[in-house]
Amino acid sequence: MFEHLSSLPPDPILGLLASYRADENPNKIDLGVGVYKDEAGHTAILQAVKEAETRLLQSEDTKAYIGPAGTPGFNAAMQELVLGAGHPALVANRVRSAQTPGGCGALRVLAELVNRAKPGATVWVSDPTWANHVPLLGNAGLEIKSYPYYDRNTGSLQFDAMVETLKNVGEGDVVLLHACCHNPCGADLNREQWQVLVEMAQKQGFTPFIDMAYQGFGDGLDDDAWGLRLMAESVPELLVAASCSKNFGLYRERVGLAMVIYNDSAAAETGQTQMLSAVRGNYSMPPSHGAAIVESILTDASLRANWEAELTEMRERINGLRAGVVESLAGAGAAGDFSFIREQKGMFSFLGITPEQVQRLQREYSIYMVDSSRISIAGLSQSNMEYFCKAVASVL
Ligand code: LMR
Repeated sequence: MFEHLSSLPPDPILGLLASYRADENPNKIDLGVGVYKDEAGHTAILQAVKEAETRLLQSEDTKAYIGPAGTPGFNAAMQELVLGAGHPALVANRVRSAQTPGGCGALRVLAELVNRAKPGATVWVSDPTWANHVPLLGNAGLEIKSYPYYDRNTGSLQFDAMVETLKNVGEGDVVLLHACCHNPCGADLNREQWQVLVEMAQKQGFTPFIDMAYQGFGDGLDDDAWGLRLMAESVPELLVAASCSKNFGLYRERVGLAMVIYNDSAAAETGQTQMLSAVRGNYSMPPSHGAAIVESILTDASLRANWEAELTEMRERINGLRAGVVESLAGAGAAGDFSFIREQKGMFSFLGITPEQVQRLQREYSIYMVDSSRISIAGLSQSNMEYFCKAVASVL
């Protein structure tokens, strides 16, 4: 049966990890996968997570199944984190959620829900978007189309072109937006632009689907959710996939939330039966441990304060590195203007170099990044900054 299968190339993002690990150059730099690293290049477990885990070990008294929706306490705490306490959609009982295995699980479950409501529906994704959006949504049966988003020549949004394309999108279509810290380009919508998209969704009737994988990594927990919350107040239906991988540093625990805002509470009741059936027919139910950690942090004032402080530290380090790399590239004589990196948000930016130059950086300097020249900023540090910037200058 399997002899007819052809082998596939390594995953464009995860595949880099293996090459990086095998590289023996002591100066090697990993700017590939989006994982936060500290100055020493280590992805440490957050203190708040350690503390919550310790408490959990002592208090947990069963490993019985938790059910397809996950834990109600986690779902409620996450809904508030995403929407803000007392959000009108919550008050009107129009919101339903499921705890999922990471943001990926959420994206897939929501795509399946859409496909049940409208088989083969079209979902519009930004050009560019996170590479895994396409298989996660497309393999659920949705048709993928793209709208212009980022201009690589100027390092900025192409908002007019985005609006021009989306103005013909109507009811029954889904538009995927990144809440903040756009992956891969780091260029986010500003508040006026969110407002324009909200008005378009209201007028044209398409369903927004917002992926929030980096809440707290851009400007702060509330600021990063500003556009999402406005959308949630303004449209009758909204899909949200949230991830706890980055902001809680729980990557391998796989923690996420699939959340839907429905037209009314009756539709919410019905829709939830479909979402849970999609979960059951897919992975049956989510793992428990990571979500229990998140619930414990979000519902305990002191753990939450510690977590927020640690999140602030991660954000500020990345923002410092953004400013630092712009300065150091100029100092190293790198041809071109890289100031856009300082203005962008979150873990990623495109360096804006060619795939051949990316390959040279890997071959000659052991610097690893995705072929598109997306760099994971947190892989930079004070100690490797000069090496990195001189290498970039030399390939330009
Ligand atoms: C990334 O874009 O690097 C992360 O979201 C990790 C992944 O799974 O691709």
